[in-house]
Amino acid sequence: MIRADFALRHAGQLATMMAGTDDALGRIRDGALAARAGRVVWVGQDRELESQVRLDGDLLDAQGACVIPGLVDAHTHPVFAGSRADEFAERVSGARYQAQQSGERGIARTVRLTRAAEASTLLELAEARANRFLANGTTTIEAKTGYGLDLDNEAKSLDVLRKLAERTRLRVMPTFLGAHVVPPGAERQAYLRSLIDEMLPAFTPWAVFCDAWCEAPAFTAAETRALLGRAKALGYLLRVHAAQLGPGDGPDIAAELGASSADHLEFATPAQITALAKAGTVAVLCPSANFTTHGPRPPIEAMRDAGLPMAIASDLNPGTSNSESLPMAMSLACVEWGMTPLEALCGATLHAARSLKLDGLAGCLRPGSFADCVVLDVEAPEAIPYYVGVNRVIQTVAGGAVWEPL
Ligand code: NIG
Ligand code: FE
Repeated sequence: MIRADFALRHAGQLATMMAGTDDALGRIRDGALAARAGRVVWVGQDRELESQVRLDGDLLDAQGACVIPGLVDAHTHPVFAGSRADEFAERVSGARYQAQQSGERGIARTVRLTRAAEASTLLELAEARANRFLANGTTTIEAKTGYGLDLDNEAKSLDVLRKLAERTRLRVMPTFLGAHVVPPGAERQAYLRSLIDEMLPAFTPWAVFCDAWCEAPAFTAAETRALLGRAKALGYLLRVHAAQLGPGDGPDIAAELGASSADHLEFATPAQITALAKAGTVAVLCPSANFTTHGPRPPIEAMRDAGLPMAIASDLNPGTSNSESLPMAMSLACVEWGMTPLEALCGATLHAARSLKLDGLAGCLRPGSFADCVVLDVEAPEAIPYYVGVNRVIQTVAGGAVWEPL
């Protein structure tokens, strides 16, 4: 008998995401799972649960609803203060996102408000965002800094992420994004020196990943190479905001440096896509940001043809995507870009986990993986994107226990 302290039963369809020969979802009908100490210890058919598992703990009855692994969001910016709802309204009336990045507007405006905010306020805001992630079925996020943009304020943002991880049931994978843009008022060369000589070495214990935005209005190819090259030498894993607003070298740099992810990629070329696939980099696509900036569709077919894994992310941030909903991003990926519902689901689970180096641990349900899953009121896991903008999550399980909204 397998000992467990949590079990879930009567999942009408349980998607393990462990692809079988005839089903890419590794689907179990009338499925069940058991967990101990936050890890899955058994997955199978409900009728076998009692004979195989000795449960000493909570039992959750899914009552025929669908169960999938907790969603994994591979690109979020959850540490910020203030609103840019007015910039959203301007874009709806024809303003371009790029034109909003001058003076005290755009990212610079969020930087000013984030610097002015107390760490305790930023933590409260981030905690509310964590609750919305969990409510929408996300159990793991990659979380970037990037609105502090000096030594003290980036340290403050990383500290907020560390405290957030202690307080929330959401798994938080911290990314240092000091190279978001050159902050307002800073001298370019001096800021680059501070990034390379002070911030990168100081933050190695606090951040798993280092990210840079490689294109105007942010960093040039040469600057990005220098920054990320140094970050890699210091032991960071890399992510790159690349080819979001126009063509550029970001995807090549991600491939050259063996980045874990290249993100956005609307303007990636076929050669860059091939290079990324060869390098083992994951494409992290951000449909909600693409939608609110009226960007072009990323080259989905070329990515498919190259076998480049496509993750789907919310890109939660105050400028281009104020949304913690991965199901919404999945709907947009399908409706706006023609990704299949199966691709969207793999994108928000398996491929996202791979980009975070959590393969086999998150984004799938199998013995040894995190006991993170979502019970959904949908007829099949593939139907999630069909419910556009409506939260069909009944329950979120994180670390082998049901998460209760406060
Ligand atoms: O992922 N591309 C750069 N960063 C964000 C937007 C940040 C902002 O506008 O505040 C993004 O879309
Ligand atoms: Fe981003």
